[in-house]
Amino acid sequence: MASFPSGAGHISHLNAIILGESLASEEDDLVYPSHDFSRHALIPSPHEYLEMYKRSIEDPAGFWSDIALSEFYWKQRWGDQVYSENLDVNKGNIKIEWFKGGITNICYNCLDRNIDAGLGGKIALYWESNEPGFDANLTYSQLLHRVCQLANYLKSIGVRKGDAVVVYLPMLLELPITMLACARIGAVHSVVFAGFSSDSLAQRIVDCKPKVVITCNAVKRGPKTIHLKDIVDAALVESAKDGVSIDVCLTYENQSALKRESTKWQEGRDKWWQDVVPKYPTTCEVEWVDAEDPLFLLYTSGSTGKPKGVLHTTGGYMVYTATTFKYAFDYKESDIYWCTADCGWITGHSYVTYGPMLNGATVVLYEGAPNYPDSGRCWDIVDKYKVTIFYTAPTLVRSLMRDGDEYVTRYSRKSLRVLGSVGEPINPSAWRWFFNLVGGSSCPISDTWWQTETGGFMITPLPGAWPQKPGSATFPFFGVQPVIVDEKGNEIDGECSGYLCVKGSWPGAFRTLYGDHERYETTYFRPFPGYYFTGDGCSRDKDGYHWLTGRVDDVINVSGHRIGTAEVESALVSHPQCAEAAVVGVEHEVKGQGIYAFVTIVEGISHSEELRKSLILAVRNQIGAFAAPDKIHWAPSLPKTRSGKIMRRILRKIASRQLDELGDTSTLAEPGVVDQLIALADH
Ligand code: WT7
Repeated sequence: MASFPSGAGHISHLNAIILGESLASEEDDLVYPSHDFSRHALIPSPHEYLEMYKRSIEDPAGFWSDIALSEFYWKQRWGDQVYSENLDVNKGNIKIEWFKGGITNICYNCLDRNIDAGLGGKIALYWESNEPGFDANLTYSQLLHRVCQLANYLKSIGVRKGDAVVVYLPMLLELPITMLACARIGAVHSVVFAGFSSDSLAQRIVDCKPKVVITCNAVKRGPKTIHLKDIVDAALVESAKDGVSIDVCLTYENQSALKRESTKWQEGRDKWWQDVVPKYPTTCEVEWVDAEDPLFLLYTSGSTGKPKGVLHTTGGYMVYTATTFKYAFDYKESDIYWCTADCGWITGHSYVTYGPMLNGATVVLYEGAPNYPDSGRCWDIVDKYKVTIFYTAPTLVRSLMRDGDEYVTRYSRKSLRVLGSVGEPINPSAWRWFFNLVGGSSCPISDTWWQTETGGFMITPLPGAWPQKPGSATFPFFGVQPVIVDEKGNEIDGECSGYLCVKGSWPGAFRTLYGDHERYETTYFRPFPGYYFTGDGCSRDKDGYHWLTGRVDDVINVSGHRIGTAEVESALVSHPQCAEAAVVGVEHEVKGQGIYAFVTIVEGISHSEELRKSLILAVRNQIGAFAAPDKIHWAPSLPKTRSGKIMRRILRKIASRQLDELGDTSTLAEPGVVDQLIALADH
């Protein structure tokens, strides 16, 4: 077996597997794919994986350019260099470029290229309404027509290459249509999850200054109607105060939720999608762009209050999302694929829209709530569309698991062949329920670890290749070199745990934070010079499997949604009766983590149920309902060091009631604070 470059500590273990040595784990801990599954899989065994992985690390340029050339259309090939990178802050500015000089278009590659290859009549999108019984679908050709009409409309109102377009839409067909239309004309979409509040939307509009905002009047989620247009109206009032005014608000009339007569309207600015877009031609010339031209901006939370505009470019992202989708889900042309994520998050960008469409896949889009009208809805949808690949989040698995097996067993689910999980570590009991009950013990689970920043999967099972361990994301994808470092930034090997970093770049990596390259460098490349720092903790076991252990920064993960503790704190302290707030994550049975807020109220005010509710409302209004604290803990004061730094370590222990693990409290400015807080714990 050839020797392997350093920085791939799991490789020696893999060599052992291939050489026929058994894993060190007990057989009981391992779940093997069936013989039949592996036989038909794209990567049928660790051996094939290792061959490809080795090449991807030893010759990234050759590995990725072979894929880029054989599977995508390029108007013009890139220059001499497939990629160039500087990942070391000590050697100058951080820079990552892939396929620079290559000219292409991702919308063309999703649609025109697949249609030319004979997929025009294939269903691209099945759309399932919140209300059972209502649905729609589009073939690849029909989708192209819709995309072109919108692209032409956008051009007619002056949207040009490089302009930003803010999109605030729920899971309607119009959402992927809008993303693809922007990509077609080289505009940069910034989709804002339609659960964010008007303040959050305004903040994003002010940051990226779009030419147009695209929304719909309302949407139904479960039994509730949400008036999205009202939220946009309020956001546009706010953004105008900051000097960003929007000339056009294109609004889709979502008739099933609200009729246009009942929609508030600003004549001149607001346009009904249905009145203008269908008038435009169904063909539209492609704007050919450089591989390094921006494709989209997506805001995500960091450890300060200000969201970060993660910027992805075109060529590398295209190659990476398509390739990861194909291998991690063992994609076959006959698959019907459903990812429950919303396009407002990165999962919806890479694995609802781009990755699957680049592969010419049939994608199910679901508008509504996964437990509406009851907890069997997901399996009803699986049976209705004969879904073969089902990709979701552990929080949904846990909540459905709690609702009882009958909701699952009532449906056949026999079409399923691959399951996927994303957003947070999946606990072994949820993994087993998902595997045994939902998948009938025959569908491998791809537990995909990745981030908004990484663009696509980084550590993931390849379903036919590996024996799985419930709760482990297994091994790195091709081209990815995960390294585990200690506090000082030294790589550690073998069985170990520490901070997860990545060595080298990969095509799907984000290139900057919009308008703030310095924050990009400081957050991701300064903590451990020479590496990309993920913000996650990770351990590697005796067989080389990776186990993600959660965020090590001030970011919490609630139902797979990333929320900065500082964002919640700043929303709380904006409340006139809140003097100070400190937010920590606590274990939550369904959401993974819950939000636990310690709040000090201003002198002379006493706490009440009413105040609690209005504090929570402040967070809902400033961020969105998904960020509402689960618990408000009244705090006469907060534990601080003598230099005034809040000691979150102690707050985390109090929040999780691990009172015997408080550790050393003697360095606190006022050690008595801790006892006070404990005394107030259940008020
Ligand atoms: C953070 C990224 C990537 C799409 C969804 C979230 C956590 C994500 C896993 C997984 C363990 C995971 C990490 C990561 N995470 N997937 N399979 N196992 N943890 O994207 O909002 O950018 O959050 O989600 O902590 O850093 P995101």
